[in-house]
Amino acid sequence: MSFETILYQLHERAALITLNRPDVLNALSSALISELARALDDAERDDEVGAIVVTGNQKAFAAGADISHMKDLDLVDTYLGDFLRDEAERIERCRKPVIAAVAGYALGGGCELAMMCDFIIAARNAKFGQPEIKLGTIPGLGGTQRLTRAVGKAKAMEMCLTGRMMDAEEAERAGLVTRVVDNDALLEDAIATANVIAGYSRVAAYMAKESVNRAFETTLLEGLRFEKRLFHATFATADQKEGMQAFVDKREARFQNR
Ligand code: HXC
Repeated sequence: MSFETILYQLHERAALITLNRPDVLNALSSALISELARALDDAERDDEVGAIVVTGNQKAFAAGADISHMKDLDLVDTYLGDFLRDEAERIERCRKPVIAAVAGYALGGGCELAMMCDFIIAARNAKFGQPEIKLGTIPGLGGTQRLTRAVGKAKAMEMCLTGRMMDAEEAERAGLVTRVVDNDALLEDAIATANVIAGYSRVAAYMAKESVNRAFETTLLEGLRFEKRLFHATFATADQKEGMQAFVDKREARFQNR
């Protein structure tokens, strides 16, 4: 696997994908988004990988779509080309859990990319924003939808209308990020978290992810039914037997993803 705009590494059972265009604060080019999609395919195919971390560098997770590539596009280019959308959405099609580890700027498409992940761990210096309004446009990769679901209408509306950034503390208070950690602990924390998830039953992890995601797609009653069916289904797995037997035996469970 060779990539030019990202780095791909394995850390035990976690795949680490690092956005790597530091000169332009990891601005999202079509090439970067394509490589990210390809790396996610690799991670999904690799049986050893149980969870994925997407990160940037200390200054930026990603400062948005690459404005110099985007500025001369017209409506037909963006509409027929479905600008960045299809491949960016590869993240949300991942069945393996995906964690965004965000330090520095996560702006525009960068914030949207982080929000496509299953959850966000933020470094103390993280800054989130949807500044598209300052460029005469609006979020185009889910910002108006996912930010609103994450932090509610008031903050989402204010951020999309003013372009102001939210720091890590505010993002944690507002429910956008799961927790804030020191900058130099970010990667270690995210990779350790990914490895914790990778150590559980993969069937249970996929089902838990599917079920939480269903909460955003359906009514409470249908969501509860969906969850109950998946809960029942886990009782057909060897991993449920092993997990519960291990508890009773007071030993670590050895899940086999069966
Ligand atoms: C292209 C970018 C960039 C971007 C930064 N750079 N963001 N290039 N696209 N989104 C480049 C700068 O031009 C500069 O290049 C280098 O990265 C460093 O950036 P500076 O501005 O010098 O750094 P700083 O002063 O620290 O300011 C950081 C910043 C600022 C506040 C993050 O760069 C900024 O406002 N960036 C744009 C953020 C933005 O508007 N994002 C939304 C994009 S629209 P040089 O060559 O000068 O060193 C979007 C829509 C997605 O994302 C929809 C998809 C469908």
